[in-house]
Amino acid sequence: MHDQRFFDQVVWMIDSGAIDTAMPMLAGKLYGAYGHHEGWARTRHAYLGHPLRSIMMEDPYIARCVTKPRGYAGDAELIDVIYDRKLPDEVTPRGKRIFEHGIEFQASEGVRQRRNAAEQFVEVAYKQGKRILCLACGHFREGMPFAGQDIGNIQLVDQDPLSLEVVRQRFGASANCHEANVFNYLRGAIARGEKFDLVYTLGLTDYLDDRAMGLLHRMAKAVLAPGGEFILANFVPGHLAIGWMDAVMEWQLIYREPEDLARFAAAEGFNAKTWLDQTGAIAWSKMVAA
Ligand SMILES: C[S@@+](CC[C@H](N)C(=O)[O-])C[C@H]1O[C@@H](n2cnc3c(N)ncnc32)[C@H](O)[C@@H]1O
Repeated sequence: MHDQRFFDQVVWMIDSGAIDTAMPMLAGKLYGAYGHHEGWARTRHAYLGHPLRSIMMEDPYIARCVTKPRGYAGDAELIDVIYDRKLPDEVTPRGKRIFEHGIEFQASEGVRQRRNAAEQFVEVAYKQGKRILCLACGHFREGMPFAGQDIGNIQLVDQDPLSLEVVRQRFGASANCHEANVFNYLRGAIARGEKFDLVYTLGLTDYLDDRAMGLLHRMAKAVLAPGGEFILANFVPGHLAIGWMDAVMEWQLIYREPEDLARFAAAEGFNAKTWLDQTGAIAWSKMVAA
């Protein structure tokens, strides 16, 4: 009942022009409610049945996340919206204002900083001519500095053929694109005896349960050349948009602390460094085979 009243109030505030106050209020309410398991199911249910939901869907970023046109959450087109802060032209003024809040959340900034960090370590490895394997590459946005150059030393794997088509168009004939589930690709690479100096993945492990996460570590280790590095990034629990993402965007992730990542690394015998990024939304793990 209190949830209903709260969402009524948010709609009233939006209608009376106080959208810039209503959005942080909504994010705060959902953040607070997310931690209470039974209570969260109730709050989420109340939001999903409330007229506020159709107002929030005027933001095309939220609408794409909810409707999942590729059949899964977090496709590369959506991630591009976060990177570029760019909306389609046909958006309502209200939808645009809602977007302007979500796109500046700590989690959105975390995704942008994740790409920036990857750009740096991939560029170093690329310039040294290292063999690089990027798992779940999406549009390979961290590789943009090498667009137009020969990227034959980089293998790019993603399950989504539409995303790989974008990569081929941007990066040209030297782009080694593999349309595959990362686990199938790794299985094949292990069987072929392939080795890489850098294996990394961004935005994948947030969807892998612990069993799959363990398997990923094992398989990545099997394709690392001596001294090679395996790097990944995973959203942490408790970032401020956690309830907003779950209820408003219908975007559920598997959250992990740096300590959790350290445990996965240790279980496979990696020497690992784990840390929290500056936004406090994303944990990193950088591993070297011991
Ligand atoms: C959140 S996006 C991240 C894209 C890119 N790494 C980035 O950071 O911009 C997740 C990507 O993972 C891909 N993906 C998810 N699960 C996968 C799997 N099991 N095998 C291959 N690709 C997968 C999706 O197709 C999507 O392109």
